Amino acid sequence: MAGKSARHRVAIIGCGRLGQKYAQAYSTYPDTEIVAIAEYNDERRQAVGERFGITALYPDVQALLGDVVPDIAAVVTPTKFYKEAVIACAEAGVKGISTDKPIAGKLSDADTMVEVCRERGIVYAGGNLQRAMSEVQEVARRIHAGQYGPIIGASVHRWGSGEISGGGCQHVAVLTLLAGAEVAEVIAWGTPAEALASDTDEGLIINGRFHLSNGIDCAVFGMGTPYRGVDVWSEDTLIRWDWGPPEIYQGYDAHGARQRIEAHYAPYRWSEFGYLTTSIRSFLAAVETGSELVISGHDLRQALEVAIAAKVSAQRGSVPIKLPLEDRSLSLYPRRYRWLGGDEDGLPQSVEEAAGR
Ligand SMILES: NC(=O)c1ccc[n+]([C@@H]2O[C@H](COP(=O)([O-])OP(=O)(O)OC[C@H]3O[C@@H](n4cnc5c(N)ncnc54)[C@H](O)[C@@H]3O)[C@@H](O)[C@H]2O)c1
Repeated sequence: MAGKSARHRVAIIGCGRLGQKYAQAYSTYPDTEIVAIAEYNDERRQAVGERFGITALYPDVQALLGDVVPDIAAVVTPTKFYKEAVIACAEAGVKGISTDKPIAGKLSDADTMVEVCRERGIVYAGGNLQRAMSEVQEVARRIHAGQYGPIIGASVHRWGSGEISGGGCQHVAVLTLLAGAEVAEVIAWGTPAEALASDTDEGLIINGRFHLSNGIDCAVFGMGTPYRGVDVWSEDTLIRWDWGPPEIYQGYDAHGARQRIEAHYAPYRWSEFGYLTTSIRSFLAAVETGSELVISGHDLRQALEVAIAAKVSAQRGSVPIKLPLEDRSLSLYPRRYRWLGGDEDGLPQSVEEAAGR
């Protein structure tokens, strides 16, 4: 794009509903330029090409890499196609790769993607998750700087809303950030029986307990309590992420109830793209300087692993399951829309919508 410094040449792999959000963001930042798009659907490919002013258009990642090797590849196909795209981009010499969520169906596929990138020194970023939200990151920094005192408890509410992998990775990624720990052991109870017996996470409601690596036991509620997110608390402060900037409660009123205080979060640039911006900016910084990602491929893998462990625990009569899982052949597939996309699930995006009209 003329006039841009374009430090990062970007390819979008899969340019459906979410891919177009990535494309909007990457075409707005002053230091990024979209150089190519791979999109499987012919009409949508033409529509998004015109919409974002891109002429280097390809049906798939192989065709794209045959012509262009970008610095950055944003993989936003349905989950089934992430692995092929990540490996192809890594082998072609792309410096940074992101996928979205959930990372995979099979745990071994998640391992392959994380390992291929690690071995080659490629940054593997984790996409559009609430963990990346600037306010979530800011409250985490405050917690870890000791501003609220040591965290002594945690809970997860309405885990995944009936999608413990597809949506539940949001909860796990926020929990591990705010608690400053990973999930070390899972014990779970699951309903309904048909969902527990299937190979997907669709409709499965899990209640249970995550034992964290810092010794905290985290209660896990499958339904709303009425909250829907993650709470962590210290002696006198409760931080509540409930899908948005975390609320902070500090001290108690005359009746012993918690009092909400003003969080005073700093404003964030390019807030029109929400937490996608924080995720992408940390990704670009990591490619430039090796700095830490706000959400990584490893975080996505850990979320899949926790979801698999919960399902296995519930299936086996609530056996405690330790993480990392020994059996890397285990799997948990997301619902059809996430796995195969809207076209295969009977929810295709119209050409008008893809064209931004
Ligand atoms: N982080 C979030 O909040 C969030 C929200 C929605 C979706 N997602 C995830 O994003 C992914 C995509 O979801 P979506 O809503 O954009 O789906 P979508 O069906 O709207 O778009 C997927 C696009 O990828 C294209 N595609 C499929 N296979 C391809 C291939 N091999 N090569 C190139 N293009 C290919 C399809 O033609 C389609 O245009 C899914 O994994 C989903 O779980 C994440």
